[in-house]
Amino acid sequence: MATFKDQLKLIKSEGYLRERDRISLTSSSHIKIQDRLVTSFSSNDYLGMSTNKDIISALKKSASEYGIGSGSSPLISGYTESHHYLEKEICEYLNTESCIIVNSGYMANLCLLSIFDKEVNVIQDKESHNSIVESSKLNKIKIHRYPHLDDSQIIKHISKDNDILFSEAVFSMTGDITDLKNHLTIKKKFKTKLYIDDAHGFAVAEKSGDNTSIETSCGIFGMKPSDADAYMGTFGKAVGTIGAFICGNKDLVEMIVQKGRPYIYSTSLPRCMIDATRKSLNILAVDKSRYIKLHENITYFNNSCKRKKIPVNLNQVPIKTVLLGNPHLTLKVKETFLKENILIQAIRYPTVPKNNDKIRITLTATHTKKDIDNLLNTLENVICEKHT
Ligand SMILES: Cc1ncc(COP(=O)(O)O)c(C=O)c1O
Repeated sequence: MATFKDQLKLIKSEGYLRERDRISLTSSSHIKIQDRLVTSFSSNDYLGMSTNKDIISALKKSASEYGIGSGSSPLISGYTESHHYLEKEICEYLNTESCIIVNSGYMANLCLLSIFDKEVNVIQDKESHNSIVESSKLNKIKIHRYPHLDDSQIIKHISKDNDILFSEAVFSMTGDITDLKNHLTIKKKFKTKLYIDDAHGFAVAEKSGDNTSIETSCGIFGMKPSDADAYMGTFGKAVGTIGAFICGNKDLVEMIVQKGRPYIYSTSLPRCMIDATRKSLNILAVDKSRYIKLHENITYFNNSCKRKKIPVNLNQVPIKTVLLGNPHLTLKVKETFLKENILIQAIRYPTVPKNNDKIRITLTATHTKKDIDNLLNTLENVICEKHT
């Protein structure tokens, strides 16, 4: 086996070396990288909640009353009254029967599939998030993957009742949207289970017929989270804190308590963080100003891209990507943006398939029109250069 040094050398020469930008934060969109102020289009803190003063006060108050650590896993003594009330409140916001709080979205997906000890088929899009892929390798699960967004291929993989269709509502690396209505039709027709990962849609998705007080991707299709057998959302993105939740019926939640190993065997989120999340959701359910601003920014960006013929997806989502198809070029483009004091992300293999290297831009409610104009100018120059 090649030494680590040799492996790292190879990764670097292929353009796939991952490096961490050391960041100090002033807001979700304006940050410092090594003492340099830059505009960030790299955060999933879509509504700017991570720096909200009321949420920080709620966290401080709770920390001074209850401390900053939970001390143990939820089945020992890490499940507090606040965890219980957050679960109840989420059920009320989303009209679901039951809910369970988990430490992260990654763990939520692992929990969802760790509760099966008999053979089960899981069907998923080939570009699903790594947490969906890895959760499908647990126990005796058989994983079936269909080409990106090609729903016509799903039926081919269904072999028995209770196969699980595990759908990422908004794709984290493309901003593509899954046709959840079609997935619900498949669920009903073929008696599959439908699990929805709404990490990038919860509290963000465009509102339509949904009557929940916090937005979900189900609402785009006139559906409800309870139409799915499991609906998962995260707190580390639009909610601005950390953690995740799973909604479903009482039996599903009870099974996670009994058999969800990532839930049972990990120290639970501290109460102060749960209280911060409760405060954030409480704000998001009634004050739609940030949500409206985010959607104004998305519309402004989309209309400008249409006018300037910049090739990005025009979905009403904050995730925008430009395909470059080469890791070295993608890193170079990231550097070009940095010279203009703009941080965007270079997304390369293995996060995306080989030759699908791309830049990823995330819009937030805290960006100004001027921020977006500066971004668009640089983007236009980069696209021009790519074609000359
Ligand atoms: C689609 C999707 N699911 C799950 C996760 C994991 O969520 P968390 O960051 O809370 O672990 C992410 C995070 O990027 C994601 O994009």
